[in-house]
Amino acid sequence: MRNVVAVLIVMLAVPHPVYSAEEEFPESLERIAFGSCAEQFKSQPIWDAVVEKKPQLFLFLGDNIYADTEDMQLMQEKYNQLGEQPGYKKLLKTCPVLATWDDHDYGVNDGGAWYPKKVESQKIMLDFFGVPDDSIRRTRPGVYGSFAYGPKGRRVQIILLDTRYFKSRHTKDERSDDEKKKLNLVGWYVPNHDPDATILGAAQWEWLEEQLKEPADVRLICSSIQVIADEKGMESWGNFPLERKRLYDLIEQTKADGVVFLSGDVHFTETSKTDDGPYPFYDFTSSSLSVGIPKWAEAVNSFRVSKTSYAEPTFGYVEIKWGKSPAIDLQAYGEAGELIFENRVTVSALR
Ligand SMILES: [Fe+2]
Repeated sequence: MRNVVAVLIVMLAVPHPVYSAEEEFPESLERIAFGSCAEQFKSQPIWDAVVEKKPQLFLFLGDNIYADTEDMQLMQEKYNQLGEQPGYKKLLKTCPVLATWDDHDYGVNDGGAWYPKKVESQKIMLDFFGVPDDSIRRTRPGVYGSFAYGPKGRRVQIILLDTRYFKSRHTKDERSDDEKKKLNLVGWYVPNHDPDATILGAAQWEWLEEQLKEPADVRLICSSIQVIADEKGMESWGNFPLERKRLYDLIEQTKADGVVFLSGDVHFTETSKTDDGPYPFYDFTSSSLSVGIPKWAEAVNSFRVSKTSYAEPTFGYVEIKWGKSPAIDLQAYGEAGELIFENRVTVSALR
């Protein structure tokens, strides 16, 4: 969405967050919380800790529910279960939510373009998250979208990618479990080098190029799946190395400074860094809001720069410290609001 500036509205007693397009947003965006992988059938006490941090915006990065169905009524019921979580309701009274999706809320585990109910699923998702009737996100296939907050010099662009609607099939790892165990791999896939294979699809790539040309001081590019960490065989941009190279190249070509990637999906939390881009790229992964998987957290990631990989319920918190030398703190918090790790990135390093 080009030139859209959304206003953060403090929510009163309405069921879904509301944001509206305005020409100017007077405040700086400084506090953004995000998370992923929220099992709607479990209690989700973590929302209290999220609310406590007083985010101005919450980003839901996918697996927002576990739908895994082609039955749209069932999918709706599962969204309703999330909507009935007392902590989530509390969050909606304090800040707006922007969301993209991953496989389980899209509708099928590790799913992609072939999922037959994607049109219906998109509508249910956009409805649930209160996306306005006149939003461009309702006029095209896929749930991707872009938003910009704050005045010049403190402009934050939030880019929500859709890594499901157009995605090609993975290449399966045919090695035995024993072999994979020896290599500390936990996943199921190896890189797909087919030049026709895609994650974003042609229309979304074209759109992304336009977004990256928009002025911004900090850009949070939200991908449901991990962008940088790619060794453990789980879903990631590393499954499609040509697509990831295209992403890095596009950021370079459009001279899009200030990029930090946010991701989810893996049921543990870590920050990765690579020097493969025009400047250092960070990928802050926060997963899950409800259930961590320790075995996956222990898998290989030579890009990890957080002091640990954390496999308990968690959320991510991005604090942008504007001022003379702007910096971005990437902080992971646990269910009781305790700080698990943090990495500081200066904005001047992201160019
Ligand atoms: Fe996922």
